[in-house]
Amino acid sequence: MTLTGRLSGRRLQSQRWERALITGASSGIGEALARRLSANGVELVLVARRQDRLDALAAELDTPAEVLTADLADRSQLDAVVQRLEASESPVDLLVNNAGFGAVGDFLEIDSQAEAGMLGVNVSAVHTLCRAAGTSMAARGSGAILNVSSIAGFAPNPRSATYGATKAFVTSLSESLHLELGPQGVVVTCVCPGLTKTEFHDQAGYLPDGVPVRSWQTADQVAQAALEGLAAAKALVVPGGQNKAAVLASKVAPQSLVRRAAARLATINGK
Ligand SMILES: NC(=O)c1ccc[n+]([C@@H]2O[C@H](COP(=O)([O-])OP(=O)(O)OC[C@H]3O[C@@H](n4cnc5c(N)ncnc54)[C@H](OP(=O)(O)O)[C@@H]3O)[C@@H](O)[C@H]2O)c1
Repeated sequence: MTLTGRLSGRRLQSQRWERALITGASSGIGEALARRLSANGVELVLVARRQDRLDALAAELDTPAEVLTADLADRSQLDAVVQRLEASESPVDLLVNNAGFGAVGDFLEIDSQAEAGMLGVNVSAVHTLCRAAGTSMAARGSGAILNVSSIAGFAPNPRSATYGATKAFVTSLSESLHLELGPQGVVVTCVCPGLTKTEFHDQAGYLPDGVPVRSWQTADQVAQAALEGLAAAKALVVPGGQNKAAVLASKVAPQSLVRRAAARLATINGK
């Protein structure tokens, strides 16, 4: 896949990604990214826990795909992914940090084990894999990292407090790495989807009420916007007009108003 774009706002770079490692490729946005990248000739390393899903996807793709089964909340299994990113044979030149999950509940009552797992997957794994891939790519002077965050990271999230905070971390880390690694030849792009039709909400045990179906995006729409943003070496991609408007409002409105709106939204949605 040929990607041409502005790097750090200064120099043009044209690059062909040979091989992408995608975490959370067994469903939703990760699977959609895998299908689009493969259709563009990119070989893949598919990472998630459900090996049957990854095997089935690998068998359908247009390009060769390795399956690497790993629970990213488990340090030794995460290390296996790090080793794959560090390998000089069949090197990975695009890392997609997509795996993630949410949980809804009162901060003081929500299952603490589940929250610890969320911090492991949404924060620690992203941090560890960015460092591993960034080191290998900077040494080669080329590569890219696409981090999947959320518009949830731009505003407070009562009763999804930890999830929103994990995504604020991912967005902040990504924007800093975009500036820091860009001059070393590594493009870092962060995509912040809004409501997207995947298994995410079933898994989190929460379906937002009162949000019109047309406001939801498909995983493929998000994947397309993310890859176009990556091709343009953008720091931040917010797919969808309504999501862009929500993010803009959260940035320009007084923060006291943003907090009141967030509290009201949580009440309306019965969170
Ligand atoms: N759907 C939305 O409305 C929405 C909105 C904004 C942002 N996002 C973000 O988009 C990303 C993808 O989510 P999705 O919507 O596509 O949901 P999804 O269909 O539930 O996919 C989540 C993926 O993460 C993987 N995963 C979860 N825990 C894991 C673990 N411990 N180790 C390894 N892989 C793990 C899952 O694979 P296994 O279960 O097979 O391990 C699955 O492939 C997430 O980071 C999410 O926060 C989603």
